[in-house]
Amino acid sequence: MSRTLFVTSALPYANGPIHLGHMVEHVQSDTWVRYQRMAGNTVTYCCADDAHGSGIMLKAEAEGVTPEQLIGRFKDEHLRDFVDFGVKYDNYHSTHSDENRELSSLIYRRLRDAGLIESRAVEQAFDTKRGMFLPDRFIKGSCPTCKTPDQYGDNCEACGATYRPTDLINPISVVSGEAPVQKSSEHFFFRLPAMEAYLKDFLQSGVVQDSVAPKLAEWFKAGLKDWDISRDAPYFGFEIPDAPGKYFYVWVDAPVGYMASLKHLAARDPNLDFDAIWAKDSQAEVYHFIGKDIIYFHALFWPAMLEAAGFRSPTGVFAHGMITLNGEKMSKSRGTFITARTWLDHLPAEPLRYFYASRITGSIEDMDLGLQDFVQIVNADLVGKYVNIASRTANFISKRFGGVLGTSVDTAVLEQVSGVADDIADAYEARNFAKATRLTMAAADVVNGYIAEQQPWVIAKDEARTDDLQRVCTTALTAFRDLSAYLKPVLPQMALQVEAFLNIEPLHWGSIGQSLAGQRINKFKPLMTRIEDKQIEAMQAAAKAMADAAKTPAPSKPQDDDMISIDDFMKVDLRVARVAEANPVEGADKLLQLTLDVGELGTRNVFAGIKSAYAPEDLVGKLVVVVANLAPRKMRFGLSEGMVIAAGNGEGIYVVSPDNGATPGSRVK
Ligand code: MSP
Ligand code: ZN
Repeated sequence: MSRTLFVTSALPYANGPIHLGHMVEHVQSDTWVRYQRMAGNTVTYCCADDAHGSGIMLKAEAEGVTPEQLIGRFKDEHLRDFVDFGVKYDNYHSTHSDENRELSSLIYRRLRDAGLIESRAVEQAFDTKRGMFLPDRFIKGSCPTCKTPDQYGDNCEACGATYRPTDLINPISVVSGEAPVQKSSEHFFFRLPAMEAYLKDFLQSGVVQDSVAPKLAEWFKAGLKDWDISRDAPYFGFEIPDAPGKYFYVWVDAPVGYMASLKHLAARDPNLDFDAIWAKDSQAEVYHFIGKDIIYFHALFWPAMLEAAGFRSPTGVFAHGMITLNGEKMSKSRGTFITARTWLDHLPAEPLRYFYASRITGSIEDMDLGLQDFVQIVNADLVGKYVNIASRTANFISKRFGGVLGTSVDTAVLEQVSGVADDIADAYEARNFAKATRLTMAAADVVNGYIAEQQPWVIAKDEARTDDLQRVCTTALTAFRDLSAYLKPVLPQMALQVEAFLNIEPLHWGSIGQSLAGQRINKFKPLMTRIEDKQIEAMQAAAKAMADAAKTPAPSKPQDDDMISIDDFMKVDLRVARVAEANPVEGADKLLQLTLDVGELGTRNVFAGIKSAYAPEDLVGKLVVVVANLAPRKMRFGLSEGMVIAAGNGEGIYVVSPDNGATPGSRVK
């Protein structure tokens, strides 16, 4: 019987870029969803940005934008990253949405009416200058244990001690630099201990992996605690019903964001029954893919909230380990923090999806992205084993048989390949993608062994063996179709190319083992090329450059000895110029060659390091400001006769442009 599934990934925070750590989760859930669909199940797959909290509020403030602008920008970026990695959500929403406000308030009211919300006064650090209570991470001071300065209010990075922010020596607010005071305020608590019996029962039902059970047992042993679900204004989030100035703590409405994303989609899709999926007696299955760092929220708070509010709880909470890069934690300062976009700028997405699949076992073990391993595995498996099968046989079919496959095949080989379909299906179902890819490559080995033994390139030379040639190539390509189906959840883009090449309907699990006799196929185009070390090097260099750019100190006020006289300034001949031509420069990643029309001064050739921010065609016709009396500089690419003025803030480059009406050659003062 076909199943109905609702699947989610954890909601990324809307104040930073998607990185390769996030991606292991989204690629994992996407692969699982694609497998489920190939197997004939009905799946709705949703995610959203997690848009609330003090962090987002303060970052927006620092950038001089509203929180809504900030989260809007990150949501667009996040979605683009996912799409470009082949992660295909049915809906990508935001927790800052009407649906989420309604559902969060509804759940809260039901908890309150069931007597599960309590309020009491809490003493907390308060920044009097900024007028806000400070989360632990926004207080710094010296560690009470080892005295190391500049430690956060929750734990010490030097000695590992954990403490309360009030224990810090000489604490200061990160927001204002002032010493915080203690201030009392009323907070709301969800009485989690009242849900203990339910949770113990629920967690026995196989909802979490076995390896997570000991952690949960530990939490129960230590005793469940009331959960503080409120924060005081100013806070970017939803105001709590009937409690002006009090907001839901971000982790209250974050998981509700899963439901809200589905509700938002259901409003547009008449086949989707939101209420049926979330009803207590629902026949649908609900699965959350998460990192192991957020199990507490998903295995305790979230099901407790759902149960108490009259909704069903998840069928499965699938936790995964953390990804490390070359054996180390990804670190911004060391330049080993790789964003999804940095990767995509230098490398294709599907090989990484494959590498991740080869490491994902469904357990909570951490996984390492060793870049050398990546190159080696992708080239060996995908290029060397898989694509090779088609590239060694397809051309014979086009050239010798008018692109038509034969009717006779070597069934023994094909049975070996299609015979593992059930094992691979089971491995996908169990999220053991490492096993699924291993079995697929073992089947590819069988086919390559067959080709090596049959030697179609030798048979091709023998006019009397035309039938043999067609049989061998047809066998190989039929096997290739099965392997493509096995890999389709991991390599959806590749599967599309294969479907076009073999001229077949979209591959699904039922396609495996079907005959391709007499099938007219298309000309074979290379499906994938080897990954080169230099792509990896360029990607790492870009990540490093981003880390260094982030390190350049924020612009500061000029110091006295930085001052120049008006005469110094007058020496600089700044002119308005019109960009007449803009071209990329061969061999220079960052440069554009510009031909500038500087009015009375004629035209100038200038090389500008603005390629990362501007496409040449967007610059043509634009008015810019140029330093016209800079001594010409001889560069590897030619002579640069000036400098275009641009602003930089460590993140982007912004060419300075005069208002409309300025004419080329005008002086700028
Ligand atoms: N906003 C919360 C989740 C709310 S879900 C209702 C959050 N956001 S996060 O951006 O910090 O992390 C999102 C997910 O990415 C989490 O599941 C987290 O475990 C995962 N990962 C973040 N870094 C990771 C690695 N280095 N490796 C693997 N997963 C990682 O937590
Ligand atoms: Zn310490």
